[in-house]
Amino acid sequence: MSLLEVEGLRVGYGFPVLMGISFAVEEGETAVMFGLNGAGKTTTVATIAGLLRPEAGTIRFDGADITKTSAAERVALGIALVPEGRRVFPDLSVANNLRLGAWTKRRHHKQVEESRELCFNYFPRLAERSEQLAGTLSGGEQQMLAIGRALMSRPRLLLVDEASLGLSPALTQTVFSVVDRINDDGVTVVLVEQNVGVLPYADRALIMEKGTLVYQGSGDEIHSGSIRETYLGTPA
Ligand SMILES: Nc1ncnc2c1ncn2[C@@H]1O[C@H](COP(=O)(O)OP(=O)(O)OP(=O)(O)O)[C@@H](O)[C@H]1O
Ligand SMILES: [Mg+2]
Repeated sequence: MSLLEVEGLRVGYGFPVLMGISFAVEEGETAVMFGLNGAGKTTTVATIAGLLRPEAGTIRFDGADITKTSAAERVALGIALVPEGRRVFPDLSVANNLRLGAWTKRRHHKQVEESRELCFNYFPRLAERSEQLAGTLSGGEQQMLAIGRALMSRPRLLLVDEASLGLSPALTQTVFSVVDRINDDGVTVVLVEQNVGVLPYADRALIMEKGTLVYQGSGDEIHSGSIRETYLGTPA
């Protein structure tokens, strides 16, 4: 049984966007979803997080059908989204942004404290800046905070929508390698990316074009060879 199973997912905004996509992600994997602007990547992860209602299809998490489960309940089940554009709360401190990420665990003070330590361990910069207002953080620090905030709910599945957007190559590598550590620590990851620098971390690659998955395969398969050139336009 896969941790995440998406079957025949159709989603639109009054017009169709996802044309009935199916894929699965195994527990412990890092899956990377590529695709051009407008392909439907954000729509896919937002639907998995419960922010959009599909017109058809099913989403199963750990064997249970969650297609009709609310977004809040999905967080409690262990699905966390790092949204495109970070969306940190600019007028709140780093510490309070993290605290809000732990909303589903708010009665478990010790666990919240442990989660905060975990975030600070992954991103020491956040510890140094814990009282700073999130709106005054650099773009890279805001991305760290957005990932940290998602981790505060102690997810089993972390969905990360274009973490590298607007980051320098060095910071992009830092973020990818921390996400890799998070994965090593047992969290299953789905990364939406347009940056092929993420490929070395991918166990599974999904390539989306105009609302359909045109390729799914192992990260190794796509890392080298013609598939990479055909779909991503960049030779290895
Ligand atoms: N809230 C919305 N209302 C109407 N149309 C939308 C909405 N959000 C997305 N769309 C449309 O759905 C399609 C897919 O958008 P989506 O954001 O899922 O693509 P994406 O692959 O994440 O693109 P990008 O790489 O630019 O982030 C696009 O044509 C977009 O214009
Ligand atoms: Mg997007």
